Amino acid sequence: MKSLNGGGRHPEVEVRKLLSDDVISLDDIQKLISKAHSDNIKNGLFYATASQTIEKLRQKIGDGVCFIAEENGKLIGTATVCSKKINYWYYSGTVSLIKLVAVDPDSKHSKIGTRLIEACIRQAVENEVQVVVTDSAEENIIFKKLAKRCGFKVIDYCKYKANNFISTVYALFIDRKLSPSDVEIEKHLAWKHKHIIEKE
Ligand SMILES: CC(C)(COP(=O)(O)OP(=O)(O)OC[C@H]1O[C@@H](n2cnc3c(N)ncnc32)[C@H](O)[C@@H]1OP(=O)(O)O)[C@@H](O)C(=O)NCCC(=O)NCCS
Repeated sequence: MKSLNGGGRHPEVEVRKLLSDDVISLDDIQKLISKAHSDNIKNGLFYATASQTIEKLRQKIGDGVCFIAEENGKLIGTATVCSKKINYWYYSGTVSLIKLVAVDPDSKHSKIGTRLIEACIRQAVENEVQVVVTDSAEENIIFKKLAKRCGFKVIDYCKYKANNFISTVYALFIDRKLSPSDVEIEKHLAWKHKHIIEKE
């Protein structure tokens, strides 16, 4: 039986960066992402990442940092953080974008997702980036809870052509002064939901 310490964390789970010559392959990571999305698929949420090719995964990781969670050498979680220049209503400049977040369904609700997101945020701070952004299906309540738990707020909506759902965009302003006010955010969200344009 797995032992839990404070906050339900698994001390035997190691979160680390994927190395260029790692024993964990991109194939292992894609298999995990596909497995993690099985519940989303059952709920009608078809994430393009669930069935993407290894080449696509390689492109998406790009020059970002891919974190992995391992339990006794077994891959049980992953998340990637990349730098991206944006020019959206809430911020203009370089942000850290967290993507490809997945935890093995056998290890869900064990705070592994939280640890992976925290690792990505620490990387953003290390890179001296002031805003961290992530997105997921509006109906993905688990990710919504995870994002809120890690300090993100809903900032926007978008629709990717490859997905069959509208995504909620979350932002974490490391320098809180950069954040629009709650009133501005609420106003934008009410408007944006009615004016979503599909993007690649
Ligand atoms: C989203 C995901 C990464 C969360 O990973 P996780 O390790 O289970 O997350 P955590 O254990 O850190 O949980 C964080 C919060 O999420 C919520 N949560 C997690 N599992 C949940 C469940 N089964 N039911 C309801 N809420 C849940 C909880 O609020 C939890 O916080 P709490 O324990 O304080 O209540 C994981 O469910 C997953 O891989 N899902 C499929 C892939 C996906 O949707 N990725 C995100 C979009 S790309």
